[in-house]
Amino acid sequence: MTNVGEALFGTELGEEAIREARRSIPLVIRLGMYRVLSPGWVEKLPVNRRFDQATARMTAVVHELMAGRDADTDHGDLLSTLLLARDAETGERMTREQVHDEVMTLLTAGTETTALILAWACHELGHHPGVAERVRAEVDEVLGGRPVTFDDLPALAYTGQVVSEVLRMYSLWILMRRTEQELDLGPVRLRPGDEVVFSPLALHTDPRYWDHPEVFDPDRWTTERVRSLPPGVFIPFGNGIRQCIGHLFARAEVVIGLATIFARWRLEPAGPVRVRYTTIACPRGLPMTVRPRD
Ligand code: HEM
Repeated sequence: MTNVGEALFGTELGEEAIREARRSIPLVIRLGMYRVLSPGWVEKLPVNRRFDQATARMTAVVHELMAGRDADTDHGDLLSTLLLARDAETGERMTREQVHDEVMTLLTAGTETTALILAWACHELGHHPGVAERVRAEVDEVLGGRPVTFDDLPALAYTGQVVSEVLRMYSLWILMRRTEQELDLGPVRLRPGDEVVFSPLALHTDPRYWDHPEVFDPDRWTTERVRSLPPGVFIPFGNGIRQCIGHLFARAEVVIGLATIFARWRLEPAGPVRVRYTTIACPRGLPMTVRPRD
């Protein structure tokens, strides 16, 4: 939340907004999902008052932040990018309401997703000491004890392979599209308006494309092996025009997170992992023992 908050609001002026996001957005995500999946009368239950209060608090903070900015100054954060953006055809800017909605979308879409992948990466590395050792060796060689920066990402190639492998194994079960025009998909004729549900996870674990898909193997992401993958079989961030807008940001966050952790700590599994299955596998309790590296 802090990562996305700082990218959105900057670090100094945005401090209060980041604090509020840490407090409100997890509630908005959890209660929002409950609300979407429940019948209409549920909206009157007390649980929804908490959702409404959290949304109202966050909305107020974002509007306050926008009010404090003049329309033409670039503060070098994502909020400025949104406020200054112009429609390519009409040249118009977004309304403040639209900018607010974009901010809420980025805060809700860009936090738990990345945190889950970082958590599962720590889990897999805890269970594969040989892989963890290679990550540590790479991090030591590239960073030599200094903090990781964005420019280090290309050199942290093996750590990037680990992240790809975690994204492959811990993907969403379903994504959806609505057909706009009639088309034949294999033996099935789709009509306009038909809902299509497809599964990134099923593609990512299909033995036609992956050797031993159940095995955690970051070496399947070497440049040569990636070249032999058919297009479209790896879609952890979706694909096409609605592909995740934060995919590069998310990858950078996870690689930087792992490099920071593995430069200083050893993680060892410390008990059974509890998992809650929603549209993705969420760890609910992933105990690990953390020891400083010698
Ligand atoms: C590892 C972390 C992440 C994963 C696995 C992930 C995955 C996804 C997926 C599967 C979609 C749907 C794509 C589709 O329907 O084709 C999506 C959409 C989206 N994601 Fe992410 N995401 C991650 C991180 C982020 C971050 C960090 C941000 C922003 C800061 C973000 C913002 C969005 C937004 C705004 C959309 C909607 C895009 C649209 O409909 O045009 N995501 N993401």
